[in-house]
Amino acid sequence: HHSRPCPACVLIARSNEHRPPVLRPRPSLPLRLGGCWASTHCEVRPAVLFLTRLFTFHGHSRSWEGIYRHFSDPACRQPTFTVHAAGHYSRGTPSARVRGGTELVFQVTEAHVTPMDQATTAMLNFSEPSSCGGPGAWSVGTERDVTATNGCLPLGIRLPHVEYELFKMEQDPQGQSLLFIGQRPTDGSSPDTPEKRPTSYQAPLVFCGGEAGNLSRPLQRRPPLQKPPSGGGPCLPVAPLPLLLLVLGLAFLWWL
Ligand SMILES: *[C@@H]1O[C@H](CO)[C@@H](O)[C@H](O)[C@H]1NC(C)=O
Ligand SMILES: *[C@@H]1O[C@H](CO)[C@@H](O)[C@H](O)[C@H]1NC(C)=O
Repeated sequence: HHSRPCPACVLIARSNEHRPPVLRPRPSLPLRLGGCWASTHCEVRPAVLFLTRLFTFHGHSRSWEGIYRHFSDPACRQPTFTVHAAGHYSRGTPSARVRGGTELVFQVTEAHVTPMDQATTAMLNFSEPSSCGGPGAWSVGTERDVTATNGCLPLGIRLPHVEYELFKMEQDPQGQSLLFIGQRPTDGSSPDTPEKRPTSYQAPLVFCGGEAGNLSRPLQRRPPLQKPPSGGGPCLPVAPLPLLLLVLGLAFLWWL
């Protein structure tokens, strides 16, 4: 029924439960990280963490920064806190275990935290100052540097941190570049040893612009996914404070 030849459709049509189709792998592109990459939708991680990611990679200095916006609901409408992290990454080497994948090592050396709701702000206010950002009050929407306190324990942020990563790039049918970053371990830990390096990928990020000049600039930029999701899904209630604290207390923050 296809006007144009569709080799994959033919393979699928001829397959059955006992003879699954063997599709040709899509060619992966050489890894060109330089520039800005954003989530296309609200993403979910174990321990009920909903987030969107926005990364900028600076190819010349091999430095990177990531902005992780966390939400309490699966539609990413109720912000809880934002983390702005930065560090360096290694030169990539082809993966021996995953065809088409590139292995990299990421360091996280700096982090800033912005509480975005009353519950998270109150929790940070009540936490031990030496565990997150030092003395001083937190207020909704105000960013604080947590690098000097080696991260922010109440939010599961520990610095400095190293992650062993697997990346690949592809092009979608419209010619848009996609960046796949390794899946997180399902046990809630982080890939902090070479043995725990991912062998599969998270949902891809889309390219959102060329190599940006400065660290502070992408902070102001809103990723494409910030437009309100269309279609009236169920309106989920905001998590009550004890639940949120439980979730945050148990949650480990995963980088990348
Ligand atoms: C955080 O602490 C400051 C100073 O003690 C206070 O003014 C503010 O209301 C607190 N915020 C929350 C959400 O508890
Ligand atoms: C980028 O930041 C550096 C300092 O880190 C500054 O010297 C430079 O002028 C900035 N460039 C732009 C385009 O803002």
